[in-house]
Amino acid sequence: MRLLEDRATELQQRYGISYRITGIASRRMGWIANPNGLDSALLAPNPSPLLDVSRAAAPAPHADVHSWLAAARADVVFEATSLNVENGQPAVDHIRAALEHGAHAITANKGPIVHAYRELRDLAATRGKRFLFESTVMDGVPIFSLFDQLPALRLQGFHGVLNSTTNVILSEMEQGLSFDEALKKAQALGVAETDASHDIDGWDAAVKTAALITVLLDVPIRLDQIEREGIRDLTPSAVRNARRDGWLFKLVCRARRTFSRNPAGVEVRGIEASVRPEKILSTQPMARISGTSSYLCFETDIFPGLAITEDNPGLYATAYGMLADLVRAVT
Ligand SMILES: NC(=O)c1ccc[n+]([C@@H]2O[C@H](COP(=O)([O-])OP(=O)(O)OC[C@H]3O[C@@H](n4cnc5c(N)ncnc54)[C@H](OP(=O)(O)O)[C@@H]3O)[C@@H](O)[C@H]2O)c1
Repeated sequence: MRLLEDRATELQQRYGISYRITGIASRRMGWIANPNGLDSALLAPNPSPLLDVSRAAAPAPHADVHSWLAAARADVVFEATSLNVENGQPAVDHIRAALEHGAHAITANKGPIVHAYRELRDLAATRGKRFLFESTVMDGVPIFSLFDQLPALRLQGFHGVLNSTTNVILSEMEQGLSFDEALKKAQALGVAETDASHDIDGWDAAVKTAALITVLLDVPIRLDQIEREGIRDLTPSAVRNARRDGWLFKLVCRARRTFSRNPAGVEVRGIEASVRPEKILSTQPMARISGTSSYLCFETDIFPGLAITEDNPGLYATAYGMLADLVRAVT
């Protein structure tokens, strides 16, 4: 919301977009709507001392997403609930409800991509609305929308470094810290959660890999079809010795199309995908990705290595992806 306010002039002058926030929802607040616009204090970052004050004047919460959407008369819904790796809920239900209501749906949540991409994409098309999710991988960097600019290009696979927590931990281990010390440093920097196992065990990277495969290679894939190994078993000496010899460990995401023939001679197409620590030659671009930076290289027929680097994203990077999706949706 802060970025929307910050870019209100650009949105209005360049794209003719004006907006009013008519609904807000979270587990703690419930479903709050006012078609005339919500009190700005209610929209302040949470937790906020203003929240309790404004709550007294806040409209009574609605019972569910459906009555909330109707009351808010929503044209666009931004969905940013926590990731549920198991089934993508409740985000899948929220996005489905938004599209059925007749709103564009924009999400930063990878769950709905991994668990319900085709259904939501097709629903959006049927309703003449957009289902957009640029912030799900590499924050707001144009990854999915890049392919709108590359018609008829054949994507064969990709590789990259997409998880900041493991990147920071590995960089610190190279400097001599133990795994636990490096993890504490990543937590102190605010990069890693208190429970960082989701990142360390490769789940976050695997979900991102699955989202890219599902959308860009157009092959639905389950998380258990991605070979996954985290960085927990890497020792500081292995990391330091590799560095001494000119190699750097990175948690690398990989996917590529495979072609084989079954015993009857029929061509079988598949996907081979993995997330695991790999030793990368220090002169390679991927080896230079450190800290919170990310890297993704697409392997295509016309451009064999089309790479994007996101160098130390700022605070607004994820919000920017959602704002850019808003512009894409309504212009
Ligand atoms: N943070 C990033 O840089 C980043 C980058 C890319 C993508 N993402 C994705 O963006 C999403 C949000 O990230 P975050 O860091 O803000 O996550 P978060 O800290 O877990 O916050 C999630 C928000 O969703 C609300 N929520 C959770 N479950 C809900 C439910 N069942 N019904 C209604 N509201 C619910 C929470 O409400 P309460 O606070 O009231 O519980 C909270 O406001 C995640 O899917 C994440 O993977 C984040």
